[in-house]
Amino acid sequence: MDIRFRDTNVETVKTDLLILPVQEKRLEEPAIRALDRRLKGGLRERIQKSKFSGVEGSTLLYSTAGALPARQLLLLGMGNATDSDTWRKAGARGRKEALAIGAQEMALFFAPEREPITAAGALVEGVSLASYQFNKYRSNSTPPIELKQLTLFKPGLKKTAAMEKTLGMVQASIPGVFLARDLINEPPSITTARFLGEQAQRHCRGRGLSVEVWGKKKIEAMKLTGLLAVNRGSHEEPRFIVIRYKPSGKPRKKVALIGKGITFDSGGLSLKPAKSMETMKLDMSGGAAVIGTMSRLPHLGFELDVTGYIPTTDNLPGGNAQKPGDIIRYLNGKTIEVLNTDAEGRLILADALALAAKQKPDYMINLATLTGACVVALGTAVGGLFSNDPSLAERLMRCAEATGERLWQLPLVREYREHLKSSVADMKNIGGSHGGAITAALILQEFVDNIPWAHLDIAGPAFAESDTGICPKGGTGFGVRTLIKFLSTL
Ligand code: BES
Ligand code: MN
Ligand code: ZN
Repeated sequence: MDIRFRDTNVETVKTDLLILPVQEKRLEEPAIRALDRRLKGGLRERIQKSKFSGVEGSTLLYSTAGALPARQLLLLGMGNATDSDTWRKAGARGRKEALAIGAQEMALFFAPEREPITAAGALVEGVSLASYQFNKYRSNSTPPIELKQLTLFKPGLKKTAAMEKTLGMVQASIPGVFLARDLINEPPSITTARFLGEQAQRHCRGRGLSVEVWGKKKIEAMKLTGLLAVNRGSHEEPRFIVIRYKPSGKPRKKVALIGKGITFDSGGLSLKPAKSMETMKLDMSGGAAVIGTMSRLPHLGFELDVTGYIPTTDNLPGGNAQKPGDIIRYLNGKTIEVLNTDAEGRLILADALALAAKQKPDYMINLATLTGACVVALGTAVGGLFSNDPSLAERLMRCAEATGERLWQLPLVREYREHLKSSVADMKNIGGSHGGAITAALILQEFVDNIPWAHLDIAGPAFAESDTGICPKGGTGFGVRTLIKFLSTL
């Protein structure tokens, strides 16, 4: 999609779809009056008849029938909010209307009250994100009509270097989000550990990037015992994916990104009920977010040393499956008694965190669809953030606010370690009946060796139960944009 900035007004812009964002009850704006004059009062009449008042999410589509250079006119209700999320959603809605009427280009009257760069970034992001579809398994699908051009215009509008930089980063990030969504949406018998490794190799190419995919032998040699234990119930071999990015110059910081890659979570011998399994192909969303993020680094030019670690397997109850009561001894010497094989994410992340910690990165961030308890606490719109480092947590919170991928910090309650005491090992893999997201995070913390670390529990927002405006039902790619934003601040 080509993005243009033009110094022009609503009456002269020539386009398939002219979009005018309207604040609630602000129907006397000069732009609307100018349009109404050209449309001989027809617009005013339609506004009154349809009771369009600019409520957020409302739209009014008007065919100009040759009275204007623009073919169709869309009034887009913005409500009273002027934050970046409103612009993101407005962009997405505009894109959907364009799809519905087959428009190949659209022009938007761009006059934000404040922070025009942030607003433009969010708007373009919304337009781009809303273009995603996953139709490869539908027999009757036609590819969506491509939006070739988006024009932002206003009398006196000029493109600045700062604006260009922001839009460049937004546009460079989108393919990473779409890659993550694709990997999540593929059926779980396609997205196996092997497939995930191949996809990482295929998409993480370009200057500075290299990928290693470890098979079972190497995983045994590296003593990644948690991954081996979870894999025992499966016919598929596990993989451990390592994606490295080295900048051309001396790196300013070293970052490790770790993603949970359970390609299907049946629960293992502690089997889930059928209903809870329906969406369990989503359980590699953390890994998908790391692959999506890493794949974009050659296009972003950060002076950072970044390594992505993705332990991956499915969690199945085959004849050789690990059993409740089994004990895993980890490479850092710690032992975990497995009392519930459905608490498998922490078992494979423990390996990856311990391995990453050995490289002494400045920051470690892991993403995982770790607990149903986190969904109970925060719902599906918000991810849980845990951290042993307040400044890292604050930085991530700020990045999440900017991207609209909402996070909320939950505490690492030391007292709850009590609930993890095992009668035979250093800890067990489940806590008591309350605070399940916290006890899971406390287990992970045992493996980070005091390195500044954050854990994002994305069990809620990784998968959309219905269309969210910027994402259809299915994998959302949650985390990719926030990780890229985070890296850009280092
Ligand atoms: N993958 C699930 C968590 C999950 C639940 C993700 C719902 C997305 C939506 C995880 O492996 C799991 O099964 N967790 C258990 C932990 C419990 C056994 C301590 C859970 O949350 O029930
Ligand atoms: Mn599970
Ligand atoms: Zn799981």
